[in-house]
Amino acid sequence: MVFVAEGTSSQQDVSQRNLERTMRTVIITGANSGIGFATASQLAGFPNWHVVLACRDASKASSAISAIKEKYQEARVSFAHLDLFSLASVRLFPKILAAKRLPCVGGLILNAGGPNIKSSPEFTEDGFEKAFQLNFLGHFLLTNLLIREMNADARVIFVSSDLHDPDATRMGKIMGPKFGPVEDLARATGNASKLKPLARYATAKLYTMMTAYELDRRLRQAGHSVTVNCWSPGVVPTTAAGRGMNPLMKRLITSNWFVNFMGSHLSTEEKAARDVSDLLVSPKYSGVSGKYFDGSQQIASSVESRDPIKAQTVWEQSQRLVGISPEEPSLARTRAISEPHTSASTAE
Ligand SMILES: NC(=O)c1ccc[n+]([C@@H]2O[C@H](COP(=O)([O-])OP(=O)(O)OC[C@H]3O[C@@H](n4cnc5c(N)ncnc54)[C@H](OP(=O)(O)O)[C@@H]3O)[C@@H](O)[C@H]2O)c1
Repeated sequence: MVFVAEGTSSQQDVSQRNLERTMRTVIITGANSGIGFATASQLAGFPNWHVVLACRDASKASSAISAIKEKYQEARVSFAHLDLFSLASVRLFPKILAAKRLPCVGGLILNAGGPNIKSSPEFTEDGFEKAFQLNFLGHFLLTNLLIREMNADARVIFVSSDLHDPDATRMGKIMGPKFGPVEDLARATGNASKLKPLARYATAKLYTMMTAYELDRRLRQAGHSVTVNCWSPGVVPTTAAGRGMNPLMKRLITSNWFVNFMGSHLSTEEKAARDVSDLLVSPKYSGVSGKYFDGSQQIASSVESRDPIKAQTVWEQSQRLVGISPEEPSLARTRAISEPHTSASTAE
């Protein structure tokens, strides 16, 4: 009996040490509600992921963590403050994260977002149009700051929308993205001053995808193995998009006509969470980078989103706007492909 008990305990110690060595942190922005919350809940069920809810509201994040812990008592979940309407907050985020001494970063899901449906543009404390900063510029800066902290096997996922592609949706044809100077989109000046709310949103998502593909190219050129992909959930009417609507409107937004008008397919928060979690954890996506997924299907994103010249322009103009120097070696500290890192195979 004593031997069995000792053996079991030492096996438990070894598996505990293995778990500690293979633990990764995944950061999910806007994880207190909707698809972000469903994804955080899903990933919290994996013992080797520490899930960080990067949210602007501490009490909403705390409620979300309580709900996750009710489901998975052993879940490793934390809150880190991030307000994408403030570039100062974005700049502070890596320091907040470092102070928590969490396992190395193995995943970043850039999920926070949504349109600002006010007809006139509104501006953040940085002087930038809100939907553009929330859906694109804030995440662009955050990714540039965090990429150097990531483990070699990390996966970055940018959440986009079917609306980035005017050929994929009817709404995209009416209020599709409009490519132009980043500064005009950010300040709602020039041609961007006339854009309707959904066109602003679609353009922010288009720029997100362009810079995701540009980051992928830069990582490959520099010999890094961190992967970068874009993903759209389809139409998920139960999130902020559909909350508080009357039953008639709810029926309308789940109808085939509306789904075809706004996007590719109808989904749920749980299905969307499974799809995006899969991109993070499934071995079948190991090494897959620079791709676009609509739900669980890999498809081609819009022709414009894949234009490397436009993407480079957006990248360089955005760097200037958020104050990242082009000389700044933002990828210098990510571990190169050849460099060993802790994995299940190297663990004791
Ligand atoms: N639902 C759909 O049909 C659909 C379709 C295509 C794409 N998407 C994309 O999917 C993602 C998730 O959307 P959702 O539908 O799940 O919407 P949601 O339920 O409204 O969630 C949006 C999240 O973003 C957060 N957020 C908003 N402003 C923020 C800020 N300034 N700083 C930090 N976080 C902020 C919200 O936090 P607060 O609670 O504090 O506001 C919330 O946690 C978005 O990128 C959206 O564009 C959704």
